[in-house]
Amino acid sequence: MTQKILVLPGDGIGPEITAQASRILAACQARGLDIEIDEGLLGGAAYDVHGEPLPAETLEKAKAARGILLGAVGGPKWDKIEDLAKRPEKGLLGVRKQLGLFGNLRPAITYPQLASASSLKPELVAGLDIMIVRELTGGIYFGQPRGIEERDGERVGFNTYIYTESEIERIGRVAFEMAQKRGKKLCSVDKANVLEVTILWREVMERLAPEYPDVELSHMYVDNAAMQLVRAPKQFDVVVTGNMFGDILSDAAAMLTGSIGMLPSASLNESGQGMYEPCHGSAPDIAGQGIANPLATILSVAMMLRYSLDAPALAQRIEDAVGKVLDDGLRTADIASEGTRTVSTAEMGDAVLAAFEAL
Ligand code: NAI
Ligand code: MG
Repeated sequence: MTQKILVLPGDGIGPEITAQASRILAACQARGLDIEIDEGLLGGAAYDVHGEPLPAETLEKAKAARGILLGAVGGPKWDKIEDLAKRPEKGLLGVRKQLGLFGNLRPAITYPQLASASSLKPELVAGLDIMIVRELTGGIYFGQPRGIEERDGERVGFNTYIYTESEIERIGRVAFEMAQKRGKKLCSVDKANVLEVTILWREVMERLAPEYPDVELSHMYVDNAAMQLVRAPKQFDVVVTGNMFGDILSDAAAMLTGSIGMLPSASLNESGQGMYEPCHGSAPDIAGQGIANPLATILSVAMMLRYSLDAPALAQRIEDAVGKVLDDGLRTADIASEGTRTVSTAEMGDAVLAAFEAL
């Protein structure tokens, strides 16, 4: 059956990087991947045309798509929009919410060719390969009640940290299955010494564990996890945690690699439908210059092939092509170092495509 793919270039460097990733998608199509590629507007680009960041037409296309490839949304041009509901990032949140994309996969991989880019010693990060599984549609970012109100003569701000057992179970299963496919180690991160919601979280992880006897489950408090991530990051294989802890830890893990322009991500729902995007933003400071690194977006295509389109061989081929190009010393400006050749966004796309075809 032909699967629908929706490309949402978005704002800033989004159109430049998704253009290169789309060429790789087309190359996969030429190799027999049965997909149909469409494009849509999201974020500021959609606001400029339709007056809203998530037009009904885009949402309909997103619902029908098996995989969505997003560039990035937002930028100073739209920061003055007063109605918060019309801000570009609301478009992104809207897609996540409407499609129920609760399972956020955030790999942190250090390419051997780029190990010197990390702020940590190369030996601490060389060969690093962590997968952080973050719950994305629940927890304190969405819990009710929430607000700022007056109580006893002073203002108080409050949020609610809440997870249902079924929400914990479904993200737990994603993480256990991921660990089965990888290094068979799963570390669940919580704050069970202080927060009841994470006592339940830990209980559910323990309850699931016997169903995955080949996976070694461990638990860690989030403060310790933050320390361990910078002390000895290679001890981790798969990490599973809630929305807020995952937000923070996945950004910290991303920085361990030293190259924000290299990191893809996936957000999946129970049916395997997913949105794939680079971890970085729309980089307005370099937009339109043709120098952005397209590799995070190209690697997001690889994740789409692996997790939504069941095409792991093509996914591997893309990842190998990226490795080959790095081996050859090609770098966009953000990852350039002494002895490498600095190339533009389009030249990097050319090189990956050529390597993909040659493999
Ligand atoms: P950013 O990730 O866009 O940029 C941070 C720094 O990294 C900048 O110096 C930028 O030039 C550089 N950079 C990022 N991606 C790059 C790439 N592919 N190649 C080369 N250099 C790259 O984060 P920032 O500046 O905090 O946010 C800019 C805008 O992006 C904001 O409007 C923000 O809201 C939005 N944003 C959107 C996200 C999304 O769509 N998922 C995620 C994060 C931020
Ligand atoms: Mg974040």
